[in-house]
Amino acid sequence: MSSGFSRLNPFSAVIKERYPLTKPGSTKETHHVVLDLQNSGMNFKVGDSLGIYGDNDPLLVARLVSALKAQSETAVVHPRTQESMTLKTFLTQKANISKLTSSFLKLFKTDPSLQNLLNNKIALNHYLATNDVLDFLMEFAHLPFSLQEMITAFSPLLPRFYSVASSLLTHPDEVHLTVAVSTYTHRDELRYGVASHFLSHRAEVRKTVIPCYVQPASHFTLPQDHSIPLIMVGPGTGVAPFRGFLQERIACKASGKHWLFFGERHREHDFFYEDFWNSLVQQEKLSLDLAFSRDQNDKVYVQHKLYEKGAEVWNWLQQGAHFYVCGEADPMAKDVEATLHRICQDFGSLPSDDAKAYIKELRSTKRYLADIY
Ligand SMILES: Cc1cc2nc3c(=O)[nH]c(=O)nc-3n(C[C@H](O)[C@H](O)[C@H](O)COP(=O)(O)OP(=O)(O)OC[C@H]3O[C@@H](n4cnc5c(N)ncnc54)[C@H](O)[C@@H]3O)c2cc1C
Ligand SMILES: NC(=O)c1ccc[n+]([C@@H]2O[C@H](COP(=O)([O-])OP(=O)(O)OC[C@H]3O[C@@H](n4cnc5c(N)ncnc54)[C@H](OP(=O)(O)O)[C@@H]3O)[C@@H](O)[C@H]2O)c1
Repeated sequence: MSSGFSRLNPFSAVIKERYPLTKPGSTKETHHVVLDLQNSGMNFKVGDSLGIYGDNDPLLVARLVSALKAQSETAVVHPRTQESMTLKTFLTQKANISKLTSSFLKLFKTDPSLQNLLNNKIALNHYLATNDVLDFLMEFAHLPFSLQEMITAFSPLLPRFYSVASSLLTHPDEVHLTVAVSTYTHRDELRYGVASHFLSHRAEVRKTVIPCYVQPASHFTLPQDHSIPLIMVGPGTGVAPFRGFLQERIACKASGKHWLFFGERHREHDFFYEDFWNSLVQQEKLSLDLAFSRDQNDKVYVQHKLYEKGAEVWNWLQQGAHFYVCGEADPMAKDVEATLHRICQDFGSLPSDDAKAYIKELRSTKRYLADIY
């Protein structure tokens, strides 16, 4: 049964629990975030993602209000929905206020001071790559446009997606997420990605509303037959759905084997969900191969571990295993596919074209499934 919550009508969840998965001393920051779905009627399958609307950073919002020479509480009309709201609400919840786009600049094309820039593609691309919305508003502070005209230039703040990292069979009324904090430097200032900052730092546990909805992934879920073996490749946050897959298969008392390839920077600081995987290994419900890329001089990645175990991987595929990969699309997922191709050649004795055809067949029969971003 559908809950009725969607992209246009998100559920107002709160964070039930949040803790860091990376330990002190790590060179990155990733958090486990548990959202409370009680009374939402929201259902998801393992493999689905959650769409989340994060608020923009209030410090950036305050700087924009000032650059617009306005007040936070000034009333504006949302240019698309025609709703009345304060400027602060519009900039916090509705507008993309960080990335400057050419369509943003084009709204001011009648101003002579912008024409040179808009008519020179190279200069325009350079300007867009090195300036954000705030820089633009400060540089072109003289633009003779009203506040309402200015805000029509903002593109909408879009949802971000996070893979579901739990099963409803194990955690009813909850959804677990694995959120890597995204950072970048703008003009020597450390900035955070909108939604990962909101979920990891700014939203208060049990208090702040997290607008969310289920984004189904019909292409990426468990086989109905619980005896089918699973090979799962998930470096970094790519491991998230496989925590959900394993919770579900254990809850269903699946007889099929499981094999996880996980990779991160350092074993000491970045071994997400270590206790969960280790307990499954001890119960002989999981084979685990780990690639900690920065624990030695040469990089070791999940695909290196996959190739090291190539003969056994080929055997599992011959037994009908489903092969899953999740995480960064490029280069990780491409490198994993190239390694699978080499495994088919070197351990399955398939000529290159036959190996390609074999992988194509795995895809078309839904035994090679990817959720990549
Ligand atoms: C199906 C799917 C599943 C996903 N699952 C997960 C998951 O389980 N866990 C997870 O952590 N992520 C996941 N992601 C990625 C996630 O959706 C977000 O893309 C990620 O968290 C970054 O979003 P953000 O809002 O924090 O950063 P954004 O604000 O979107 O910024 C992202 C990056 O853009 C650049 N950037 C933004 N603004 C500027 C600017 N003004 N100047 C210069 N550069 C800029 C920076 O490099 C920044 O780090 C998934 C994505 C998809 C599509
Ligand atoms: N801007 C930021 O601050 C920031 C921080 C974290 C993540 N992110 C972004 O968020 C997304 C997901 O990040 P994540 O935390 O899940 O993972 P990630 O940081 O991208 O990487 C996880 C692991 O995968 C390794 N890796 C790198 N290239 C690989 C390849 N070609 N094949 C296999 N493994 C590879 C990494 O090694 P090495 O890193 O040692 O090469 C690391 O050990 C990515 O798009 C990432 O760029 C951004």
